[in-house]
Amino acid sequence: MERTLILLKPDCVQRRLIGQIISRFENKALNIVAMKLMKVTPELSQKHYAEHVEKPFYPALESFITGAPVVAMVLEGLEAIRVVRDMLGKTNGLQAAAGTIRGDFSSSRQMNLVHASDGPEAAAREINLYFNDSELCGYDVCLTPWMRTNDEA
Ligand code: CMP
Repeated sequence: MERTLILLKPDCVQRRLIGQIISRFENKALNIVAMKLMKVTPELSQKHYAEHVEKPFYPALESFITGAPVVAMVLEGLEAIRVVRDMLGKTNGLQAAAGTIRGDFSSSRQMNLVHASDGPEAAAREINLYFNDSELCGYDVCLTPWMRTNDEA
């Protein structure tokens, strides 16, 4: 099982898309193991987006991500990091395939609704930035036997 850090970004919250986006993850049998509504501070943004801080678009990105609340979540599932990235589609909503979250809801490269960790190291680092260990709630879901066979887990 893998865990990945998800942010429903300010555009997602402001556009009242939280429920629709979370439904997609639930329908895919991904388990929510942590979730909170919060404001991202400039300090947290700089840590989260450390690889982008020197890029020309970073000031606008920081202003956007700190400008209104986000929903931070940890999702757990088989191959969760890749599965969620595939569900999101390409970074730029204009280029994301129809049927993906960004392809269906976003027409922007900055306001692309959802962030998801891009690999195991990023996931571990990002989960640690947003959540304490005590906030991570692993649990069994009774529907799992109807979602996949035992030898797939
Ligand atoms: P995310 O997956 O959260 O990772 C970095 C974010 O920076 C990205 O989604 C976009 O919101 C934003 N981003 C990436 N490239 C650009 C760009 N060229 N111009 C503006 N914002 C960008």
